[in-house]
Amino acid sequence: MTAPALSPRALMSLLFNGSKAVDVVETALTIGLLDALEPGPVSLRELATRFESRPLRLYKFLDCLESLGLVVRHEPSDDINEATYRAVPGLLAAATAAVGPDAIERDRDRYPWQRLHGRLAESLRGDVSMTDDDFAWPPKTDEQTEAFERSMSVGLGPVIETFHRHAPHLWTGRRRFLDVGGGAGTLAARILDDVPDLTADVYNLPAVAPLVEETGRRSGHPNRLGFVAGDFLTEPLPTGYDALAFVRVLHDWPTPVSRQLIESAYRALPAGGMLLICEEFRTPDRLAMQFFWSYFLIGVDSCVSRLRDVDFYTGLLGEIGFEKIQVLPGGWELVVAYKPG
Ligand SMILES: C[S@@+](CC[C@H](N)C(=O)[O-])C[C@H]1O[C@@H](n2cnc3c(N)ncnc32)[C@H](O)[C@@H]1O
Repeated sequence: MTAPALSPRALMSLLFNGSKAVDVVETALTIGLLDALEPGPVSLRELATRFESRPLRLYKFLDCLESLGLVVRHEPSDDINEATYRAVPGLLAAATAAVGPDAIERDRDRYPWQRLHGRLAESLRGDVSMTDDDFAWPPKTDEQTEAFERSMSVGLGPVIETFHRHAPHLWTGRRRFLDVGGGAGTLAARILDDVPDLTADVYNLPAVAPLVEETGRRSGHPNRLGFVAGDFLTEPLPTGYDALAFVRVLHDWPTPVSRQLIESAYRALPAGGMLLICEEFRTPDRLAMQFFWSYFLIGVDSCVSRLRDVDFYTGLLGEIGFEKIQVLPGGWELVVAYKPG
């Protein structure tokens, strides 16, 4: 059971006090309270003893977590010590992902979002933007490239999970894989862990080459993970691969460009070739988790950042000529399609 959805008024109070809410969640994570609540239910008395806390103070602290919809309380009597608590499913993992030491939100926070903060009205009119020094899309300098690809690797969790889950069936008969816009090669290296007969190349802008080489060395696949430098906006995708992927690539571009990229993949694949598309297809949850980039990219016109419904891609693949189009389940769904053989 999860907490009921909040009214807009209640949400506004939480939003205004957002930094305090993060303080509460971070503290609960750091002191181990979330570990204690995970198997729940656990009484306030036990928690107060274990965390050497004053019961009434801890009760108020837990009220903060409850107001965020993160714990469920059962209070059988007027004695607060008797109250029991449990975490909503997935809380520990969610808190670790959002506010833990290696959290994705911490990584995102390094970007200069402050440029827009308090100046959104001017930004909406186009009077305030990110400069190329703040954030260029695609990245321009080696430093920007490295920082961006590192951020991308941090956020790959749901993709890696989905590819791992489907690895036993997905790659049957495939020999050569090209990850188009494949970042620093982190996903490709994880796929190679699962599929011993496969070799993979990352296709990316030339500046990314050293990062992919490093990934190849660190992952123990220096001979199976390669790099192909190119610019998919100005040249056709390379041939010679029986599987291509666009992972978090198509949502960066306006629809005509996304369409051209899929058409380019169709031309590059042999008959029977497989195309994979994986990104955060639009749902309310994923839009919320994308909040940082939606905000930050208000100031970056060159990056479209458009979460699309999965149906958009399945429809487009069919129009372009792909067949046997499937949507495989996972942290983020994986769209699989084949060029007719
Ligand atoms: C949002 S990132 C996704 C990276 C990786 N697939 C992942 O999910 O972690 C988009 C990728 O597209 C690459 N890219 C952008 N423009 C490109 C272009 N014109 N040609 C080739 N790659 C490009 C970027 O360098 C980056 O690696």
